[in-house]
Amino acid sequence: MKKIISLVGARPNFIKIAPLHKAFRSLHPEIDHKICHTGQHFDENMSKIFFDELELPRPDFYLGISGGSHTSQTSRIMIELEKVIQDEQPDLLIVPGDVNSTLAGSLVASKMGIPLAHVESGLRSFDRNMPEEINRMVTDILADYLFVSEESGLINLKKEGIPDEKVFFVGNIMIDSLVSYLPKAKESNILNSMGLEEGRYILGTFHRPSNVDARVHLEGLFNMLNELAAERKLVFPIHPRTRKNMESFALIHTLHPNILLTDPIGYVDFLSLILHSELVITDSGGIQEETTWLGIPCITVRNNTERPITTKIGTNILAGTDFENVKKHAFHILSGNRPTGKVPELWDGKTAERIVTIIHNQL
Ligand code: UD1
Ligand code: UDP
Repeated sequence: MKKIISLVGARPNFIKIAPLHKAFRSLHPEIDHKICHTGQHFDENMSKIFFDELELPRPDFYLGISGGSHTSQTSRIMIELEKVIQDEQPDLLIVPGDVNSTLAGSLVASKMGIPLAHVESGLRSFDRNMPEEINRMVTDILADYLFVSEESGLINLKKEGIPDEKVFFVGNIMIDSLVSYLPKAKESNILNSMGLEEGRYILGTFHRPSNVDARVHLEGLFNMLNELAAERKLVFPIHPRTRKNMESFALIHTLHPNILLTDPIGYVDFLSLILHSELVITDSGGIQEETTWLGIPCITVRNNTERPITTKIGTNILAGTDFENVKKHAFHILSGNRPTGKVPELWDGKTAERIVTIIHNQL
């Protein structure tokens, strides 16, 4: 029996691995697919709620590593993961996305001679100040199977000299989860419980160090949100990184009363909030993709995106980190000028099936 371990650590990883786990179970139950959780994200509403809602089993292995510097986090995950790999001797390690857990998994697999698959390969922001860019590049160099979500990934990998036979254009696995859980999201009661009117509120999420780690940036961001909140209710589920910084800068009392500050929200309710919003403002990677698929206007508060398809054919506007510019775009949309877009190729809910079939044939 072939054994495969998928390594997850952070919120977006759980959403990417859930469809894969189910596809292994349904298409190739003879493959023993196990899940190893590094512990990078550990709060109940950043981790367990996703396992529950996405109907994932408890992780087979839990490494309990979180916090610390990038080097400390990555290296501690490596040390603990090495033990699991040593005991289990899997035929393949799968790493999704671009977080530090992804990087740690890639390095351990390579050092231990275990074949490596990268789900969401080839994305590039071309900004090496982002830790994720380094994680993505190193992982792609080391991976044996590179599963690509959008056309730009194919182009980037080719330019970087990755042999074609390692690269598979399979579509976007995050969209598999979205497609599966959209019916539940449509039944969610979150709008009622938050007192929101459908199509008449803004949803915001921010966690990139470039936006939230320096007081001056976080303050600028809050000032902008306050101006928008004068026009619309604004739901702001706050990421733990942002919460910590907000508290340490004592910015908690500076928010407009129309800003509904909440803890991170579970997947199904959060999808419902995206689906019924008038506008999403974010610096998240995954949310740029989900809004494009759902046709919801999205303004991305970053200077670059590793997901260019969302701006090329989707509803995403890359507004940069000049908050005046972000505000200009936001007011334009709020006055009825909604961007329209198309769904990218192979974002069809069947990416996990394609990946599992390829892995089965390759192994
Ligand atoms: C990480 C990823 C980022 C991804 C994001 C998704 C890296 C380098 N960054 O950023 O690419 O977009 O996850 O959300 O891997 N914390 C808690 N509770 C939690 C999770 C985190 O208190 O459940 C705290 C940590 O202890 C740490 C801070 O939040 O102090 C940041 O967590 P960390 O995982 O290092 O990075 P993120 O900002 O979450
Ligand atoms: N998400 C969620 N609840 C929230 C915020 C985000 O369920 O309160 C989901 C969102 O729909 C998407 C994923 O988490 O599927 C994105 O994660 P995040 O923004 O943390 O990471 P990134 O994609 O930027 O790496």
